[in-house]
Amino acid sequence: MDSLARFRAALDGAPVDRPPVWLMRQAGRYLPGYREVRRQHGFWDVCHTPELSTQVALEPLDRFKLDAAIVFSDILVVPQALGLGVSFGPGEGPRLERTLQSASDLAAWKRDGVAERLAFVPKAVAHLKHALAGRYGLLGFSGAPFTLFAYCTEGSGSDDFAKARIMLHKEPWLAERALATLADVSAEYLEAQCEAGADVVQLFDTWGGLLDRADYVRFCLPALRRITEPLKARGRKVLLFVRGGQHLLPVLGDSGADGFALDWRSDWSEFRARYPKAILQGNVDPLLLLAGADAVSPRVRALLETMQQVDAGRRCIVNLGHGIHKDTSPDAVAALCDEVKVHA
Ligand code: CP3
Repeated sequence: MDSLARFRAALDGAPVDRPPVWLMRQAGRYLPGYREVRRQHGFWDVCHTPELSTQVALEPLDRFKLDAAIVFSDILVVPQALGLGVSFGPGEGPRLERTLQSASDLAAWKRDGVAERLAFVPKAVAHLKHALAGRYGLLGFSGAPFTLFAYCTEGSGSDDFAKARIMLHKEPWLAERALATLADVSAEYLEAQCEAGADVVQLFDTWGGLLDRADYVRFCLPALRRITEPLKARGRKVLLFVRGGQHLLPVLGDSGADGFALDWRSDWSEFRARYPKAILQGNVDPLLLLAGADAVSPRVRALLETMQQVDAGRRCIVNLGHGIHKDTSPDAVAALCDEVKVHA
């Protein structure tokens, strides 16, 4: 089986010779080629230049035995396109110039022309698709509405995203309107990525696990369905990653996603028991890769055995439980991918 056939079979629930593998944040600062590109170009310039975004998206595929590529972009392209002024300072993470604090801030979001301002992402998808020449799977992505809302209110990274969570409780109507807007913009832009050739799109809810189950049901699920419903009506496939989402297991099915990307704390067998027909992806602890190549093999072998126990590993994708850490050695990534391949 070639990588594209294997990746699509996993998405379709068809038999596979082994589960496919790709890694969240597989293109990034742990790779020397990426660092070299970033010495010469700003982050947004890389995203906006199809040749550069394709070059950095291909580097991990050239080095490791991966089965799929992910378009090179960022979840914060959506707030950027809405006019919030997003920048990535060296080594400090994202900063937003105009945060969401009030109804008038929301009214100032630039909805007109947002699809055009985001068109560089589907263009990057199409350029990458062409370069993959039918050999590998291809993912598009967006931030999930709550995670985007968290950055829009906080204006930067945070451990607890207190501003977002306070707004949910204090001005729920404002939060709901903002979440609906973020969802609608994302839905349109994910459809454009599918149209441009993505085999599946992934929603990154990196901060959704901060909410309790009742708030996730009230605020996040309706916003997620605004995305999954139109996409599924067009036969598109959607994966949902919720970091720290084990407590949300019973309700995640109501997101409308076709599958779940599990973080390293989520229990694979419990998700499989609850969602027998879902695609499951994950969930190696990204810090395992910092323990060196020798630590990697037994854990990956155990995960493959767990996958194999149900339906001979159908609907399974090997991945990390969160993005690759920037200090990861490429040798450890190679060890992970080699281990998946050996155990076909
Ligand atoms: O291979 C890939 O997956 C690359 C595409 C990609 C990036 N960001 C590139 C990027 C993807 C899928 C993302 C998702 C993303 N971005 C998430 C969700 C996944 C997760 O890790 O939780 C989040 C929360 C962001 C927001 C973001 N973007 C942060 C917090 C930062 C700075 C810190 C960091 O983790 O790097 C970014 C910048 C960013 N996005 C970089 C890359 C390669 C580093 C920019 C640089 O070159 O300095």
